[in-house]
Amino acid sequence: MNVGIIGAGHIAGKIARTLDQTDGINCLAVGSRTLDKAKSFAEEFGIPKAYGSYSELLDDPDIDLVYIATPHSHHFEPAMEAIGKGKACLVEKAFMANARETKAVLEKAKEKGVFVAEAIWTRYQPARDIINRLISYGRIGRVCQISATLSHRVTHLPRIIRPELCGGTLLDIGIYPLNFVRMVCDNPIEKIGSQCVLSDLGVDISETISLTLEGGVLATIHSSVCCEGHNTATVSGTEGCIVVDNTNNPGLIRLYSKGGRLQEEIAVPESISGYEYEFFACKDAMEKGLIEPPRMPHSETLYLMELMDSLRKGWGVHYPMD
Ligand SMILES: NC(=O)c1ccc[n+]([C@@H]2O[C@H](COP(=O)([O-])OP(=O)(O)OC[C@H]3O[C@@H](n4cnc5c(N)ncnc54)[C@H](OP(=O)(O)O)[C@@H]3O)[C@@H](O)[C@H]2O)c1
Repeated sequence: MNVGIIGAGHIAGKIARTLDQTDGINCLAVGSRTLDKAKSFAEEFGIPKAYGSYSELLDDPDIDLVYIATPHSHHFEPAMEAIGKGKACLVEKAFMANARETKAVLEKAKEKGVFVAEAIWTRYQPARDIINRLISYGRIGRVCQISATLSHRVTHLPRIIRPELCGGTLLDIGIYPLNFVRMVCDNPIEKIGSQCVLSDLGVDISETISLTLEGGVLATIHSSVCCEGHNTATVSGTEGCIVVDNTNNPGLIRLYSKGGRLQEEIAVPESISGYEYEFFACKDAMEKGLIEPPRMPHSETLYLMELMDSLRKGWGVHYPMD
């Protein structure tokens, strides 16, 4: 499978390095808004082709999958153009600026029969299966509480602080604990409570969200872009609990029984970077003729975008494209 990267930025570099070590998936081209930048990125990561516009990359007939790695505000346009040209897309999280854009993209993908996926890497990682197996085997009894945290001080980055780039904590970092909760328990939400601190420019820089899920499950999320956190996640059940060392990229999963006794430590299998799994999932789904990856179906991408829209609305965080 030949991949073309759109946007020669920070995460694009990590992906290029990952794909360089991935069997059966090849990074063929990079597209940037400027040719010089595309060329120097291509040279740095050993990518054969460089394009000075996103449109030119989308016209390359040898590209099977386009990976969109621009700020959230700039996912919509290349995704719509790619689907219009029949190109499969893997779009970085948050999938779009809002649910309106998300619906338009997913509807177009359905209409054209083109594969589209959200690059929320934790959905595709093996840690998800380890955690879900512990729960389904009854190792912690009935799940009652989920707590997921993720905070990194990244307020120096324009795309994090600027409303026109869809900045803020929720779409960039808060999306991981939200996905963690949904992966552990996707029961319908009965009640939502939240608190948020806004920046001078009006984006959410720190937040706490509590979700009451059907079946008596309470989930709490802490996330921020202005401080450093321990970034762990916990799933508490009637017989014990699971503690995950990193909500964003689990490495070690600990199982405790009643009384806080450590029962088992499970190391997540070695990976290249952890990003390879989302590409494997795309390749697998595309080979099966699917238009969405089973581990992150379109309905789930839309559900989370709608949830994030309603949280932002409650906090008064608005983007120009809302
Ligand atoms: N999965 C993860 O772990 C992870 C980690 C970090 C980021 N991300 C996601 O990846 C996406 C990009 O994040 P990033 O940290 O890589 O961003 P970044 O370093 O700022 O790069 C984004 C790239 O987007 C392009 N771009 C297009 N329009 C732009 C505009 N108006 N302003 C700035 N850049 C623009 C630029 O590429 P050209 O100049 O080459 O066109 C830029 O280099 C976001 O959706 C983010 O949430 C995911």
